[in-house]
Amino acid sequence: MSSALFSPIRLAGLALANRIVVSPMCQYSADDGCANDWHLMHLGMLANSGAALVVVEATHVERHGRITHGCLGLYSDDNESALARVVAQARRRGTAKFGIQIAHSGRKGSAQRPWDGGNSLTAGEDPWQTIAASATPFGDNWHMPREATEADMNRVRDAFVNSAKRALRIGFDAVELHMAHGYLLHGFMSALSNKRTDQYGGSFENRMRFPLSVARAVRAAVPKDVPLGARITGSDWREGGLTPDDAVAIAKALKGEGLDFICVSSGGVALDIRNPSEAGYNLPMAARVKREAGIATRGVGLIVTPEQAEAVVAEGKADMTALGRALLDDPRWGWHAAKALGAEVARPRQYLRVGPKLWAPAAKG
Ligand SMILES: Cc1cc2nc3c(=O)[nH]c(=O)nc-3n(C[C@H](O)[C@H](O)[C@H](O)COP(=O)(O)O)c2cc1C
Repeated sequence: MSSALFSPIRLAGLALANRIVVSPMCQYSADDGCANDWHLMHLGMLANSGAALVVVEATHVERHGRITHGCLGLYSDDNESALARVVAQARRRGTAKFGIQIAHSGRKGSAQRPWDGGNSLTAGEDPWQTIAASATPFGDNWHMPREATEADMNRVRDAFVNSAKRALRIGFDAVELHMAHGYLLHGFMSALSNKRTDQYGGSFENRMRFPLSVARAVRAAVPKDVPLGARITGSDWREGGLTPDDAVAIAKALKGEGLDFICVSSGGVALDIRNPSEAGYNLPMAARVKREAGIATRGVGLIVTPEQAEAVVAEGKADMTALGRALLDDPRWGWHAAKALGAEVARPRQYLRVGPKLWAPAAKG
């Protein structure tokens, strides 16, 4: 049996051994944006999960572009050296390649860590003034963002470029722009959060202007052989918001800017929107993006079992599948999937004795 999930794929100059990707997952555990031993343990564990690519959590391009006080950043030399230490170790000890998601939180920033409530920071919790496409809050009882000026957009675009350069110096194999989940760039794209009347609001073309300018500027800084992609929204799950048709148009526009891959996620643009809860709920949108935009596409969202992940690739719904929570639950998910699908997976030499010699006797009873 040959597995589609365990077949190799190339993104620009990056060869990946299989189609399994660790989805970016905020750990809310950094010190003023700096990675620490938690990240070393977390990323070190996932570096040996069997996934060919680990995408490091949303890493913010400016201090006030973080979601919480615990979010990772790449806005200072200290951030860069802390993340360089962690990633160098995880790469050296693990089998995976490493990508990074760079992000700006926009109006969802200045928030508490999830385990502290996940609400807008209160006066005593060192809140900050956030920026967004428009001065409309993320939800009830949430702070009021300030409408981003041209100067803000120029600064944030430069910050994305600088963070991408820091990521390249650290040695990341791939860079991903966070253009989903209601953060700053998605906030510009969606008419639910972008109420501007200038050249950055109104028509689809206008709402895309700032996000595309960020993609263009980062692409100019990231060499062609290093894959640059984006996580986008397949649907805002609300009337008047972004739709799967828009996702196809966004993917085409980003492909036009030279991006190499798209991850199709969804939701998150307003506090009271809930995502569907069916297995693989984003896959119909990913399949459309893959087919109609013709760009390497990653599916994500409630993909849990090896059989589901195999079907994503085998049935052509996406070229890669990202998993989040299933990989936290089982950090050897890729090994177990390889066993279930009769495929080979890389293991560190220290653990090579795990394999058929271990399982065969148990299978015979
Ligand atoms: C703890 C946690 C943190 C997350 N942080 C991020 C993030 O930094 N960037 C992002 O794009 N998505 C983030 N997500 C969303 C996941 O990447 C993924 O898209 C989502 O969990 C759905 O996939 P799953 O059903 O396999 O978990 C996070 C999810 C979890 C559970």
